[in-house]
Amino acid sequence: MNKLFIRKPFRQLVAEGDTSATQSGPALKRHLTAFNLTMLGVGGIIGAGIFSLTGIAAANYAGPAIVFSFVISGILCAFAGLCYAEMASMVPIAGSAYSYSYATLGELVAWIIGWDLILEYAFGAITVCEAWSGYAISLIQKTFGFHLTDTMLQFTKGPWETVTLSSGAVTHGIWNMPASLIALAVMMILIKGIKESASVNNVIVVLKVTIVVVFIILGWGVVDAHNWIANPAATGLMRWVPPAQHVMRDHHMTTIFGLPGVLTGAAVVFFAYIGFDAVSTAAQETRNPQKDLPKGILWSLVICTILYILMAAVMTGVVHYTQLGVADPVAVGIDKIIELRHWPMAAKFPLGFSVKFGALLGLTSVVLVLMLGQTRIIYTMARDGLLPWFDRVHPKFQTPANATVVTGIFVLLLAGVMPLSLVGELVSIGTLLAFSLVCIGVIVLRKIEPNEVRPFRVPAYQVVAPLGVVACVWVMSGLPLDTWIRLVVWLIIGFVIYFTYGVKHSRLRNGSAKPQR
Ligand code: ALA
Repeated sequence: MNKLFIRKPFRQLVAEGDTSATQSGPALKRHLTAFNLTMLGVGGIIGAGIFSLTGIAAANYAGPAIVFSFVISGILCAFAGLCYAEMASMVPIAGSAYSYSYATLGELVAWIIGWDLILEYAFGAITVCEAWSGYAISLIQKTFGFHLTDTMLQFTKGPWETVTLSSGAVTHGIWNMPASLIALAVMMILIKGIKESASVNNVIVVLKVTIVVVFIILGWGVVDAHNWIANPAATGLMRWVPPAQHVMRDHHMTTIFGLPGVLTGAAVVFFAYIGFDAVSTAAQETRNPQKDLPKGILWSLVICTILYILMAAVMTGVVHYTQLGVADPVAVGIDKIIELRHWPMAAKFPLGFSVKFGALLGLTSVVLVLMLGQTRIIYTMARDGLLPWFDRVHPKFQTPANATVVTGIFVLLLAGVMPLSLVGELVSIGTLLAFSLVCIGVIVLRKIEPNEVRPFRVPAYQVVAPLGVVACVWVMSGLPLDTWIRLVVWLIIGFVIYFTYGVKHSRLRNGSAKPQR
């Protein structure tokens, strides 16, 4: 029984992270710098959350106060980000939260968290592949005006989603082909190499940040401050919060807007911040991980938080929040900016195209970073013996090839069939669980290894780390019961695999440490 909570000695973990140590077989390649890591973080963060969810969250839950929802979620992520930064600087190993838990809370908890991280990374990638498909179809149909035949339309959605045919008839989809194709393309880039993956990511990040900044600059000049005042009877910042209303949603009476709406909005836009932690999974491919991982994690979080708050303020200032409940609110925003600036209609096509194309590229880098994170985690779990076969490094490309192919095929297949509504909240709950365990890990490691060198220290950790846990649990508590049930089912499947495979093959339990690679 006590072996269930066997902890990996801290020193061993640190040594494993040192891939330049005694080698047997190919190792991951150390290529990344603090700049690359920050770009990787921004590449993984800015995506479906800001390009799709913001509008829906504003229209349905928070109104113009979606800006405050972004602030609240940003603060939660700052707590978790600081804890990730301390852990990543102490334990620079590709397994991220999984490895930190192995050193602090023992093997069983580490397994739970490793298994749970599949929800964040693989299911996160699936969600974003499907959002990518939505933007791609909108670009083809609405921006370029191409006509898709009924058969083609059925290959834009999975079998549990509906498609409207040209006759107006509604039927089921067959396979979400664009979502599968983007997963396949990303898998191939990832197999090719970390350098190539980082280069593709860098180019995309420059383009998508440009689009976001241009949107903010163009929109700021034509903001109508009246759009922000959702409750003229209130005072101060509460004027931004629409009054609470009771409405029927999914056959239930529910309260929207008001402060509860702002909090629900924070839970919804939390998805927009997911991805900064993926920086820590690149630890073994970083040249100077102790110094650069904290920089990559925290800089990417700071940059994206500022951009999100400005973007949400412009979006709700230009378009009234009641008109933002669409899948492409940024495109709606840019159309409105053109109208307000009295630009000729000729400007509509190039600007509309740039925004949608920028969003598509932005979503691509999110898929890339999330799949990258997933491959590095299962690679590490396999090195520990808890999973089979995934620890093989490609001799030429120096990437975890088996882990990449299996992750790619998993994402490609599920993105083709799974309904978007099912996966999104599962990703959020899985990520929040991981964040809370990392915050707990910081507290535990300060107690059990007080004298270890900490290249980065969480300031006032006695306050920040517990607040991080409380904030995560609080946001999780706002997610629907169905999502909790799915989390529990997922964890039960994980337990079955652990007790039938992991306990027998765990290298730590069997005292057979894998030679350093
Ligand atoms: N933060 C990422 C996105 O919004 C997952 O797409």
